[in-house]
Amino acid sequence: MSVRMPLMAGNWKMHFTVAEAVALAEELKTGISRFDDREVVVAPPFTAIAAVASALAGSPIRLSAQNCYWENQGAFTGEVSPPMLRDLGCHYGIVGHSERRQFFGETNESVNRRARALLANNLAVILCIGETLEEREAGKTLDVLAEQLKGGLEGLGEEHADQLVLAYEPVWAIGTGHTATPEQAQEAHAFLRGNLAERFNNTVANSIRILYGGSVKPENVDELMAQPDIDGALVGGASLKGASFIRIVDFEE
Ligand code: 13P
Repeated sequence: MSVRMPLMAGNWKMHFTVAEAVALAEELKTGISRFDDREVVVAPPFTAIAAVASALAGSPIRLSAQNCYWENQGAFTGEVSPPMLRDLGCHYGIVGHSERRQFFGETNESVNRRARALLANNLAVILCIGETLEEREAGKTLDVLAEQLKGGLEGLGEEHADQLVLAYEPVWAIGTGHTATPEQAQEAHAFLRGNLAERFNNTVANSIRILYGGSVKPENVDELMAQPDIDGALVGGASLKGASFIRIVDFEE
């Protein structure tokens, strides 16, 4: 029996003007009805967070940022801090997305600093990890995941567990249409949960949600969500259209 409430999150990446983001938020607000047994999160670009927060007022849909800096304020041109995100009504912050690691030089250390800054500001963390195709083909998947998890969780204790969500996003599955098979995803998730149990204990490991991300669509969400250690989805492309994200949130058990 799972004690973990499924979490379905839409990562809007670098998409939408404010007006477009608000229109999608309004569509989701009226179109999603399943909130009693699942949590729904959207991560708009920074520029649209405030307007989406207003559009979602009164709705249980929660807001996430896609990234943040680790200092609260200061001379850090172009950065956005956790207190600023709290001020906008964010509940979560995503850290360590593979696009940040690939294109913006993020390391396990910088990802960890961001995670700790979010937690220190009472924001929950969605920590993304995942192997590249090259690493998978070299048989290094589990080693890479262990390393990213160790680095990302450095200095975090059991007291942070209820504010922590993991997202397993194999890089080769992101935006490619090549979803991991439910078995491949389950294998990685079970490995991660075992790793969490070693780091914390079984009870804590069983309480932490592990999302799958990488070409999740209405057509494959049900079989992914049927896996025992898949507790939700982090959805990119298929979260940009109301009907498709609503169907994903409405996955069938
Ligand atoms: P896609 O769903 O477009 O593959 O993106 C996944 C992702 O990166 C979510 O963070």
